Amino acid sequence: MDYIRSNFKKLTKKKRINKKAGQKVRFFVYLLFKKKNCIIKKLKRKEVFQMLREEKVLLRPIKKSDKDFFLKWMNDPEVTQYIRIYLPINEMLEEKWIENISLRDVEKTVLFVIEAEDKVIGNCSLNNINKKDQVAVFGIIIGEKDCWGKGYGVSATKLIIDYGFNQLNLRRISSSAISFNERSIALHKKTGFKEEGRLRKNIFVNGSFYDEVLFGLLREEWKR
Ligand SMILES: CC(C)(COP(=O)(O)OP(=O)(O)OC[C@H]1O[C@@H](n2cnc3c(N)ncnc32)[C@H](O)[C@@H]1OP(=O)(O)O)[C@@H](O)C(=O)NCCC(=O)NCCS
Repeated sequence: MDYIRSNFKKLTKKKRINKKAGQKVRFFVYLLFKKKNCIIKKLKRKEVFQMLREEKVLLRPIKKSDKDFFLKWMNDPEVTQYIRIYLPINEMLEEKWIENISLRDVEKTVLFVIEAEDKVIGNCSLNNINKKDQVAVFGIIIGEKDCWGKGYGVSATKLIIDYGFNQLNLRRISSSAISFNERSIALHKKTGFKEEGRLRKNIFVNGSFYDEVLFGLLREEWKR
């Protein structure tokens, strides 16, 4: 009888240990599963938002929460003097603009937010996309002034132009800059745009009329 009782005790103890081990394994598997799901979710999120990337910058679609950055840049005369915005932009207008740009015919405008140094620094876009003629108009704003002259503009331009020619199947991209915007003129030349002419005294800003310098880039001229 004693023999049976001691064996029974041993068995139940073993069972208890096995049960505990089983619980631990199940908990471990649950943690692994949870972590795996988290990683997959994070990867999916990155896939959605990290559209185009190279060493210096990342281009991603616009989010509602970008509003405050845009609001700051669009009310900074040091930035807006280069982009033909001269009226104050309020929060409601900015919200509407973001809503419009997101819901607008996506085949006509492609806008990316530019990120560098782990922060939002500007945006670039291909506008007036015309499928028949395979043309579009390029635009760029690095709104964070401490990020000017660090090569981010050139990097972002190269990414979006490559996207335009190799994903959207564009044949020509046009652009322009105010004659006193030396940084923008240098950016256009550096990325392969050719100066195609000037609209003399076409832009009134800071109390004077300035020429608008016209640029064009053809697909066959594009070298990344
Ligand atoms: C224009 C703009 C997009 C350029 O981007 P950026 O990141 O500042 O410029 P980058 O560092 O990529 O440099 C572009 C070129 O400008 C040159 N540059 C930099 N600072 C300069 C300055 N103060 N004066 C003249 N050229 C300058 C750079 O040397 C570079 O040319 P290089 O590589 O041949 O030397 C950015 O300054 C900006 O958004 N400015 C305000 C809004 C604007 O002008 N938008 C464009 C409207 S057309």
